[in-house]
Amino acid sequence: MENVFSKLIVDWYYTHKRDLPWRNTKDPYLIWISEIILQQTRVEQGYDYYLRFVKRFPNVDTLASADEDEVLKYWQGLGYYSRARNLHAAAKQIVMQGTFPNNYEGVRALKGVGDYTAAAICSFAYDQPYAVVDGNVNRVLSRWLLIDDPIDSNPGKKKIQEAAQLLMDKQHAAMHNQAIMEFGALQCIPSSPDCNSCPLAGSCMANARGMVDTLPIKTHKTKVSNRYFHYLFVKAGDSTFIHKRTGNDIWKNLYELPLIETKEAVDEESFLALPELHSLFNNVEAPQFRLLQRNVKHVLSHRVIYADFYEVIVPSGTESLGDCKKIKIEDIHKFAVSRLINQFFSLIL
Ligand code: ADE
Repeated sequence: MENVFSKLIVDWYYTHKRDLPWRNTKDPYLIWISEIILQQTRVEQGYDYYLRFVKRFPNVDTLASADEDEVLKYWQGLGYYSRARNLHAAAKQIVMQGTFPNNYEGVRALKGVGDYTAAAICSFAYDQPYAVVDGNVNRVLSRWLLIDDPIDSNPGKKKIQEAAQLLMDKQHAAMHNQAIMEFGALQCIPSSPDCNSCPLAGSCMANARGMVDTLPIKTHKTKVSNRYFHYLFVKAGDSTFIHKRTGNDIWKNLYELPLIETKEAVDEESFLALPELHSLFNNVEAPQFRLLQRNVKHVLSHRVIYADFYEVIVPSGTESLGDCKKIKIEDIHKFAVSRLINQFFSLIL
């Protein structure tokens, strides 16, 4: 049977596709980098990051031999930093193995590579017939086939995966996968798609039933928790103190200002009376605290952070503060920091 679905979306793709740098290569390394960047990032934002990243790390050897701090610096502002740490670890894995893996199992075994990314790399680089399923594909197929199981439930995932694999043009895996994702990104968009101009409208079951706006269905809302951070911008003459986050919660291995976290929001007076604050400045003579910014709201996927920023003037000879590192204030831009910290510095420096 002729594959009408693939023909329609590929025809559409020829006239509507964006010219994106990672589409003009078959190099699995470059495709891998682009796919990791684009995992949780829109094309418009990922574009410049991709170009800068591959200019500095043009192949797997340069990435593997770089320092993790530098890799994170190139990722600064993109969020989901485990992507960068995994990328770096996987580059070392690949160098140990000798070449970039050329089959699905090998690619899937790389750190940070899931089913979607393995299918994307194997189809785009090697034209192997693995159907990609990402948010775009979920939307296109749940509408076209009227799949109303939640796309984050096991039955929903299974139906979409099977349909995606059946509908793919196995002779033209790369083209088909690019086409279906681009179609989801530009034509079959989440809200108010223009179905009048859609080449699939005549065969789309959701369109026939007036259900385009209700699909896809999603059950689980991500649970969001609040956290309360109090950052200390310590000024010791022209120096300040920073430390590297090590915990496995957020921003692991990024740098930040000395931080005290509280379970609830606390006002300035209660904050200044906290025992943790006093023990941190235990060996420092007469620190002067001043609240610079209060209640800066920073929204992440699973958390909302409320941050206060205090300036703390200490004697310029102060050499140590907890496990922090003393640096020149003017050198702060050399360190990979979260967007929250970066915004603070762009405001005050
Ligand atoms: N999002 C994820 N992968 C993509 C790709 N190859 N092109 C455009 N958007 C994408």
